[in-house]
Amino acid sequence: MPRFLSSRPDSRLIPLPWEVPLAEWPIEHLVALPRGISRHVVRFIKVGSSVYAAKEVIEDLAIHEFRMLTDLHRTDTPAVEPLAVVTGRTSVDGEPLDPVLVTRHLEFSLPYRSLFAQGVRPDTVGRLLDAMVVLLARLHLVGFLWGDVSLSNILFRRDAGEFAAYLVDAETAEMHETLTRGQREHDLSIATTNLFGEFSDLEAGQMLDDSLDPLKLVESIITRYRELWAELTGAEEFSDREVFRIENRVRRLNALGFDVAELAIDTSADGSTIRIQPKVVDAGHHTRRLLRLTGLDVEEHQARRLLNDLDTFRARTNQSHVDESVVAHQWLTQCFQPVVTAVPPELRGKRESAQIYHEVLDYRWYASQRENREVPLLDATWGYIQDVLRALPDEAMTDTRPIGDDRQLANPFDPSQGFVDDEGPMPVDPWELEEEPETRPGFLDIEALRAARKAT
Ligand SMILES: Nc1ncnc2c1ncn2[C@@H]1O[C@H](COP(=O)(O)OP(=O)(O)O)[C@@H](O)[C@H]1O
Ligand SMILES: [Mg+2]
Repeated sequence: MPRFLSSRPDSRLIPLPWEVPLAEWPIEHLVALPRGISRHVVRFIKVGSSVYAAKEVIEDLAIHEFRMLTDLHRTDTPAVEPLAVVTGRTSVDGEPLDPVLVTRHLEFSLPYRSLFAQGVRPDTVGRLLDAMVVLLARLHLVGFLWGDVSLSNILFRRDAGEFAAYLVDAETAEMHETLTRGQREHDLSIATTNLFGEFSDLEAGQMLDDSLDPLKLVESIITRYRELWAELTGAEEFSDREVFRIENRVRRLNALGFDVAELAIDTSADGSTIRIQPKVVDAGHHTRRLLRLTGLDVEEHQARRLLNDLDTFRARTNQSHVDESVVAHQWLTQCFQPVVTAVPPELRGKRESAQIYHEVLDYRWYASQRENREVPLLDATWGYIQDVLRALPDEAMTDTRPIGDDRQLANPFDPSQGFVDDEGPMPVDPWELEEEPETRPGFLDIEALRAARKAT
């Protein structure tokens, strides 16, 4: 009899065929969705109208990962949401089966390979790295040592013109009160090793723009991370005539999407120098403000874009004296909602609502430039739906075929098995180069990965 470990149990999970190894589950329970490469058997399962990711993994790791993801969820750090661990599984012949970790499928998320298969412009690669670095810094701020930083373990969601990165694999992670510099450097060095491998594979598969060099790309991660970390946590000293620098620091942090919850301000004995250091920073500055004003819960850059539009709306309607939340409600019902409801239901799976609104604003800007007039919002929406949205691939729920690739997968539920024609680049995963490394909780098996890489 399987046991369910869960803080928010979903009773619809109970009747699923837990006595069958995940790899052999009947397809009526499965959905084919884009997925990164993995060591374990991972399947997307349908439960009523919800979609969950299921990963078959040994008990210690399943429970450890469940706890790590729960901690991240509690600290509001972007990661997939844990739902349950199903243990005590036995096959019909009484053979024990590994437990299954169930997480909520992260809607509109893209594994990096699906992104690269569509063709990625060089500056987009920089945006992906920025998103990854923000994720790493946010994890480190809450004391989370990842231990397995790699593109395969990140999911990307569109966030206005940028990307938001989510952690998907927390097996090797450890939660600490705070991280030492050495621990953070450890994650960084794992990131550079893994990403170098991943970028080299993309290069070999001709999916990386010629102007990009894997080595330079991974070097830039270190620079980007150190700059961000210094801005988020570094101390700053200045004279008492430069008090405005406190305000400047807070503004710069806000611009990076962080709020300062606690700022330590120390003044020297004679009062001539001031030292400031952010003690607690919370990510999601714009997200929180938009949520408070409108109830919309969106990514950080999307929130910034929508807030700008709200400010423009306020100015255009001459309401600078009116309470902000009142104007926000008008904006929601007169601008945002009409655009979102204008999208025909069959096209809703292409983009998230906030992303559609952002793209409509872009579309309107270009149309207005072209036509030399202010194009009304709904006209721009119709134009966008016809000219742009219809042509886009679905991103909420697509089949696993990498977008822009017509080849057929050998097993649509398991992209790691490659393509039917078996020609052209196969997804390569360093983990597949050798026998599965020994995995123990607390043991960063990344060393095995490095050794395997070196050996080839
Ligand atoms: N909750 C989820 N939502 C969307 N995709 C997921 C989810 N969980 C796993 N995946 C996909 O499955 C892949 C493998 O999952 P992961 O936890 O990294 O397995 P492994 O431990 O075997 O590496 C990920 O790269 C991701 O593409
Ligand atoms: Mg993984």
